[in-house]
Amino acid sequence: MSVTLTRLDPTGADRSALVGFMSRNEFPFHVRSRPRAADIEGLIDKGAYRDEDNDSFWIEHGELGRVGFLRLEDLSDGDPMFDLRLDAPFRGRGLGAEVLRALADHVFGTMPGVNRIEGQTREDNVPMRRTFLRSGWVKEAHYREGWPVDGGAPLASVAYSILRRDWETGTTTELVWDDLEL
Ligand SMILES: CC(C)(COP(=O)(O)OP(=O)(O)OC[C@H]1O[C@@H](n2cnc3c(N)ncnc32)[C@H](O)[C@@H]1OP(=O)(O)O)[C@@H](O)C(=O)NCCC(=O)NCCS
Repeated sequence: MSVTLTRLDPTGADRSALVGFMSRNEFPFHVRSRPRAADIEGLIDKGAYRDEDNDSFWIEHGELGRVGFLRLEDLSDGDPMFDLRLDAPFRGRGLGAEVLRALADHVFGTMPGVNRIEGQTREDNVPMRRTFLRSGWVKEAHYREGWPVDGGAPLASVAYSILRRDWETGTTTELVWDDLEL
């Protein structure tokens, strides 16, 4: 059964559920792996979950109910990025790829000006990287030492994207990495 995205109201009806979701979960590959409730409250008040750049959704599964959270970011520059977080009990079951499908359907289906969606993750986030590959997203960058790690050496940030035309045709246009030789 597939997942759907339900737009949430971060400053109203969904505020306490959003704070609860973020503060009860651990996100080992995020810069802040254990956000505190007060941090989330502050982010909500700053508009980080809904403003001209950001919009947020619950990820709902037909049988399992609410399984996670998705935020679209950088919406005003026409080249959105996203933050995907499954609730801990629903990780490791293959749902990530279904969410990427719902994400692409939502963005390309409702935002005619958007031609690509980009996602970045830490190099050791193997589940997310495999989810990108399984979903036909293409690796475009490997930013060496680009991801700060609390109390440790920085790791790489790896960027993937999907193009509207690939979403429309169900194909994957690979890029030629070594396109210029010395
Ligand atoms: C990252 C995330 C979205 C992935 O979704 P998921 O449904 O849990 O991922 P899956 O269970 O489908 O795992 C994806 C793949 O990684 C593999 N995998 C999972 N854990 C692994 C590990 N520790 N080592 C190697 N492979 C692993 C799975 O076997 C699967 O491989 P497959 O595609 O060949 O079947 C989800 O785990 C999550 O929300 N994590 C916390 C937040 C996060 O890190 N978000 C990403 C921010 S960009």
